[in-house]
Amino acid sequence: MALDSKKIRKDFPILSRKINGRSLVYLDNAATTQKPKAILEKLKKHYEQSHANVHRGVYALAEEATSEFEGARKKIADFVGAKSPNEIIFTRNATEAVNLVAYSLAKKLKKGDRILTAVSEHHSNFVPWLRLAKESGLKLDIVKLTPTRDFNIRDFKSKLTRKTKLVAVAHVSNVSGYIYPVQKIAREAHKAGALVLVDGAQSAGHMPVDVKKIDCDFFAFSAHKMGGPSGAGALYGKKEILEKLEPFLSGGEMVREVSTKDASWNDAPWKFEAGTPNIEGAILWGEAIDYLKKIGMKNIERHEKELLKYALGKLKNLSFINLHGMTGSINRTSIISFNTKGVHPHDAATLLDRYGICVRAGHHCAQPFMRELGVPATLRASLWLYNTRREIDILISALRKVHRELA
Ligand SMILES: Cc1ncc(COP(=O)(O)O)c(C=O)c1O
Repeated sequence: MALDSKKIRKDFPILSRKINGRSLVYLDNAATTQKPKAILEKLKKHYEQSHANVHRGVYALAEEATSEFEGARKKIADFVGAKSPNEIIFTRNATEAVNLVAYSLAKKLKKGDRILTAVSEHHSNFVPWLRLAKESGLKLDIVKLTPTRDFNIRDFKSKLTRKTKLVAVAHVSNVSGYIYPVQKIAREAHKAGALVLVDGAQSAGHMPVDVKKIDCDFFAFSAHKMGGPSGAGALYGKKEILEKLEPFLSGGEMVREVSTKDASWNDAPWKFEAGTPNIEGAILWGEAIDYLKKIGMKNIERHEKELLKYALGKLKNLSFINLHGMTGSINRTSIISFNTKGVHPHDAATLLDRYGICVRAGHHCAQPFMRELGVPATLRASLWLYNTRREIDILISALRKVHRELA
């Protein structure tokens, strides 16, 4: 079903804003997405009617808040295809979810064990492994790119050994939009006896996700990249694995019994959630998921794909644009990185802002990937369900002006 853009745009109040006297053209959805009205209304309702701390209270209000909070966990679990809500640990964001795995696994790994990741990762799924390897005497293996700047499955297979204990890769690259072959990666990794973490920060709000089908052991994602609030994220983990992992942080909520000498842990996922959680963050995330489900993830994916084809078609016709990564629309989402010949990305982005256009300029927290691309920075336009062909036209016309003015 084609999306009704006009109707959808009305759900996002910020989209009617003017920036520098121009209509806002928001093309920085890979950094964070805008929020639908539904979650603003839900926040008001929650604070006005159901707010209390969760889990501990026996009074009706606390039970109501707990039921909304745990209800959100169930919505998030269903959204990514987890078997049970107990496989969803609330975190602050995808970064914290990856760190949780790094810290908890550190206690299980021993000197000489290997971790396998890719050169194309976001720092959030790279630096924790770099640190863990350095601090625990592990070896970090890094998968190279193919000539078209995609994940090199042949190199991956050659670096996967019996000593590899964890494979950590993105689902979708935040630089090129490339969709990694995560199912194949998980199958190969499991054959070698390794666990698999998939960083789903750039996939969860853009395509249907099924962690059972991927068969990953962990899946990290953030609410703010899919219409939800900042400060809320989650780690999906297979139940049997979470049960074996040690807690990440310590304090209240994560314990069962505490004496002056010892403490025992709560069951997963609560043993990983020390302290008062981001109650309203989780509830609003659940509301954002309801909103996305109403529109349909398949429809969102189709809409983005159609816009991506349109944008790539236009960008390829501009002789002064260098596109990075794949230039086709297959096997990728609507994240487009490019450079304007002779113009620094920061200058280009600053000028685009004058036309009301928000795009990202920089290394996109992927410096090793930038080095492979041979550039210090790129421009990045990233789309979502509310973007339109008209906005792409505005971008193309503004890029022409940028090039004329600055090159
Ligand atoms: C691929 C990828 N992984 C991880 C992250 C980190 O997400 P967060 O900042 O929400 O933790 C991002 C953010 O841009 C990302 O694009």
